[in-house]
Amino acid sequence: MSSRHATLRRTFSAQFGAMPMWLVRAPGRVNLIGEHTDYNDGFVLPMAIDRDVRLALAPRTDRQVHVFSLNFQQHDHFSLDDLQLTTTSPWGNYLRGVAWALQGAGFELTGFDAVMEGNVPIGSGLSSSAATELATVTAFRALGNLTLDAVQAALLSQKAENDFVGVKCGIMDQYISSLGQAGHALLIDCRSLGFEAVPLPAGVQFVIADSTVRRGLVDSAYNERRAQCEEGARRLGVPALRDVSLAEFERRAPALPDLVAQRCRHVVAENERVLHSVAALRAGDVTAFGRDMDESHTSLRDLYAVSHPVLDTMVEVARAVPGCLGARLTGAGFGGCTVSLVVNACVPAVVDALQREVARRTGLTPQIYLSGAEAGAGIILGE
Ligand code: GLA
Repeated sequence: MSSRHATLRRTFSAQFGAMPMWLVRAPGRVNLIGEHTDYNDGFVLPMAIDRDVRLALAPRTDRQVHVFSLNFQQHDHFSLDDLQLTTTSPWGNYLRGVAWALQGAGFELTGFDAVMEGNVPIGSGLSSSAATELATVTAFRALGNLTLDAVQAALLSQKAENDFVGVKCGIMDQYISSLGQAGHALLIDCRSLGFEAVPLPAGVQFVIADSTVRRGLVDSAYNERRAQCEEGARRLGVPALRDVSLAEFERRAPALPDLVAQRCRHVVAENERVLHSVAALRAGDVTAFGRDMDESHTSLRDLYAVSHPVLDTMVEVARAVPGCLGARLTGAGFGGCTVSLVVNACVPAVVDALQREVARRTGLTPQIYLSGAEAGAGIILGE
């Protein structure tokens, strides 16, 4: 039994005086390319990582949910018949939101006792929120034998985050946490919600580095970008920026306000980059993939304006090490993580540079996460 599992069982027994019946998990994610494209009906290429949120749980006979969070050392409880936002345990809002979305979709839920624990760093852009949501869906699914598929689980989790918690995210994070596949990234079409599993190439690794920068106002900046994209699509007379090719965009861009044109240019080009980079990956051309990652970062920095000086330094430092094929910020931006594509033998040198040189230049020591691609949410143990 893993030590995390043992801790969950021990804590469950101390909190609830019994043993848990189920252990469920849902992973965080890193996006390899395709940033700020999901809410424009575009393409993304994330992979699920080996860090996850876990719930050890047992059913209750009433309509209550009682949860102890090991990370926050805090107890929270609510009734399935009275789902309100809480300010005393904000992490509990993801569980409430999922219960709200599932019940809204007509599912009959069972109350439960649970201990929750996660090792997805919180607020770092690796989707600890989506992991919490999908772990909660998986808990309700296990207890109530609910018949919902993995896409529906992702959509209802996104609904929980959009309409209950109040963050207007796209579908990428919930989708990959739900449908991730070991050894593969997923090319997701955020309009059709279809996906293709893309095998990760041998001989290289994705190095995730957390800047440790946590910036406030991310939500308002994110919503502002969304609004600028919507304005661009409206002025271009298309349902979403997904519907414009780069060539057509360049022809029509002069009619757009400058800032809107700049934001839209990122999205339109990024969509093409995702498809190009997936073709490169399938052809075994990791060098071309790395180049696309570099271009994605430049575009996010200069056109979409969602980078941060520390992220720019990290990308620069990683790229300067031989064997680093490309690097970019990942996730919403403004802080959080970068991801670099590195030849296996060169990983230690890149990690060393990221820690030492970035600390020297910025005073911050990035936290490094090395992870392969993992499976999406599921039941680890249970009836
Ligand atoms: C956040 C959102 C995602 C996506 C990314 C940017 O992670 O939750 O839906 O928009 O930002 O690509």
